[in-house]
Amino acid sequence: MKANIVLLPGDGIGPEVVTQATRVLESIAKSHSHDFQFSTKKIGGIAIDETGDPLPQDTIDACLKCDAILLGAVGGPKWDDPNAKTRPEAGLLKIRKELGLFANLRPIITFPELLDASPLKREIIDGTDILFFRELTGGLYFGPSGTETLPDGQQRSYSTAVYTTSEVERIVRMAATAARGRRKKVTMVDKANVLEASRLWRRVSAKIMAEEFSDLEYEVVLVDSMAMHLLSRPRSFDVVVTSNMFGDILTDEASMLPGSLGMLPSASLGSSGPGLYEPIHGSAPDIAGKGIANPLATILAAAMLLRHSLHLESEAQLIEKAVRKVLAAGHRTADLVAKGTPSLSTTAITDRVLEQLGV
Ligand code: IPM
Ligand code: MN
Repeated sequence: MKANIVLLPGDGIGPEVVTQATRVLESIAKSHSHDFQFSTKKIGGIAIDETGDPLPQDTIDACLKCDAILLGAVGGPKWDDPNAKTRPEAGLLKIRKELGLFANLRPIITFPELLDASPLKREIIDGTDILFFRELTGGLYFGPSGTETLPDGQQRSYSTAVYTTSEVERIVRMAATAARGRRKKVTMVDKANVLEASRLWRRVSAKIMAEEFSDLEYEVVLVDSMAMHLLSRPRSFDVVVTSNMFGDILTDEASMLPGSLGMLPSASLGSSGPGLYEPIHGSAPDIAGKGIANPLATILAAAMLLRHSLHLESEAQLIEKAVRKVLAAGHRTADLVAKGTPSLSTTAITDRVLEQLGV
């Protein structure tokens, strides 16, 4: 298999973790005789510094032409000025929109070896396996927004949640289709008791589920109670589908179930074209450049890339198994151990993964 992969290391620990995940992809290419061509492009703060634009046209062009994209992270205190003309995050939002990446898949799986790294009780989280489908190109993130100055000098700002029928249909369909290959349950999360856009979600989703997916169990949960149920009964969820903003918040909350944000990958997919794969964690500027970041989320994102964009399921599973074996052998990065306990560097834990892959 020949594939062109665009690397977008971005800011903070992004370059460190993308470098390690690339080593893993290279080793898979070698052992399975695939030809992966990598090219590195700019996004985020580094792109602002060098070009003034968080997503230069050259990056967009390369991404439109490639088979898959692996992204590190964007943002950092250097670019946090609320009055700045542009922000690193704008690059991420724009690439999602430009590539039509409307579905953000965020698997929340607990690793048996890491159960004690979670702030939650083992008996509650053990066995959790949730696949979130967060809508990624609509809602509050992309609706009309603005700021105006009122006659009395105050400022008035607004952001609007807007969804269309087809935007809801396509993500619900994708989520329900995935549920068929899992435990056959879909939970749709909204705030239909208050928000008009949520009432659209509720109607459209109910119709699709009844007409096309009556073989699946379907439930609807309000977002505030979902925040609670995620912590009290995480095992009862299989596939969860929700809007952009709710999905952003709930998946950060859910990321604490497995204990560390450092373990969680995500995939952003459209109906065709390349997918974009990234760790859920951010740029972690406080530990950038120290060589201690956990690369496993990005390595697992590379596995998702092989699965969803290159259809190399068995290679994806090899990586996932290798990561599990590394954890089972007791290897940990600093984020996964108690302060003061020895841990492996970003490079050293990747070396262990490569060993497990047999290279
Ligand atoms: C995420 C991030 C982004 C988002 C930010 C960096 C724009 O938090 O991918 O969840 O809010 O979507
Ligand atoms: Mn987020």
